Amino acid sequence: MKITLEEAEGRHPAASPQSPPAIAACSLTIGPGEQVAVIGPSGAGKTTLLQLIAAALVPTHGRVLLNDVDPWQLSTRALQVLRGRLFYAPQTPPLPPRQRVITALSAGRLPSMSLWQSIAQLVYPRGVAQAADALAAFDLDEKLWERVDRLSGGERQRVGLARAIMSPAELWLVDEPLSALDPKRSRQAIDTLCQQARARNATLLTTLHQVDVAISQFPRVIGFREGRLAFDLPAHQVSKDLLAELYAQHEHELLGAPPPERDRPASPAPVNIVHCR
Ligand SMILES: Nc1ncnc2c1ncn2[C@@H]1O[C@H](COP(=O)(O)OP(=O)(O)OP(=O)(O)O)[C@@H](O)[C@H]1O
Ligand SMILES: [Mg+2]
Repeated sequence: MKITLEEAEGRHPAASPQSPPAIAACSLTIGPGEQVAVIGPSGAGKTTLLQLIAAALVPTHGRVLLNDVDPWQLSTRALQVLRGRLFYAPQTPPLPPRQRVITALSAGRLPSMSLWQSIAQLVYPRGVAQAADALAAFDLDEKLWERVDRLSGGERQRVGLARAIMSPAELWLVDEPLSALDPKRSRQAIDTLCQQARARNATLLTTLHQVDVAISQFPRVIGFREGRLAFDLPAHQVSKDLLAELYAQHEHELLGAPPPERDRPASPAPVNIVHCR
């Protein structure tokens, strides 16, 4: 699926009218089958960008197009069909606690099903073999019938990713998939996600705090800072200097350490970096 943003602005309905938009004047194009990582400090607008593209948030200015179509111009039914063609994996996967993993995985296919198919699927999960394969891809074969609330945080996160590869979507929007994984598992998980997306020519857009993973595993990296596109480059052109600019005053995030309370800046630095390909 192709994604186009034209001067798109995103504001959260609950944000105060005085606050700057979470995403401002963003223009970019991502082609079908591309794999792109979005990086930037906390609060930069990465999740908001995914929400705009997932047609979960209406742009307050400009346009977001999916396959050259503006979702917000579609009828309710056509919008529902379009949403069935994309998979949005939020930062914390919404897995109901008492559900079994097999049922949670089957839910990855719900957006493309009719209401009755969805209800039947929740009661009598089908596609057990497919679910087992998806779990095996994330090294979780033995958890198929386990309850979700008996999994560790990292296992839950990998179940969330297995849901993505269970879905027949043409666009995968994955928000912070690695926050609960150790470095080895992170690389395996991203490898699997990229391979699976490539195998079915799905477009993959993922936000990441692990800058090293973004640069080593994705061909294209987009940097955001304070709601603005800071750079959009082939990964090999993302230099240490660019990263230092992107994470200025947020260096602890670049190093992967938690922010020391006393070191947080009182006010953010102005944004004046834009480097595009
Ligand atoms: N539901 C909301 N209501 C109001 N403001 C919000 C909401 N969600 C996010 N924001 C604001 O929008 C801005 C961008 O937030 P966003 O979640 O997109 O950042 P992020 O880059 O994903 O951060 P993180 O790395 O911490 O996940 C922030 O200033 C945030 O406070
Ligand atoms: Mg986020």
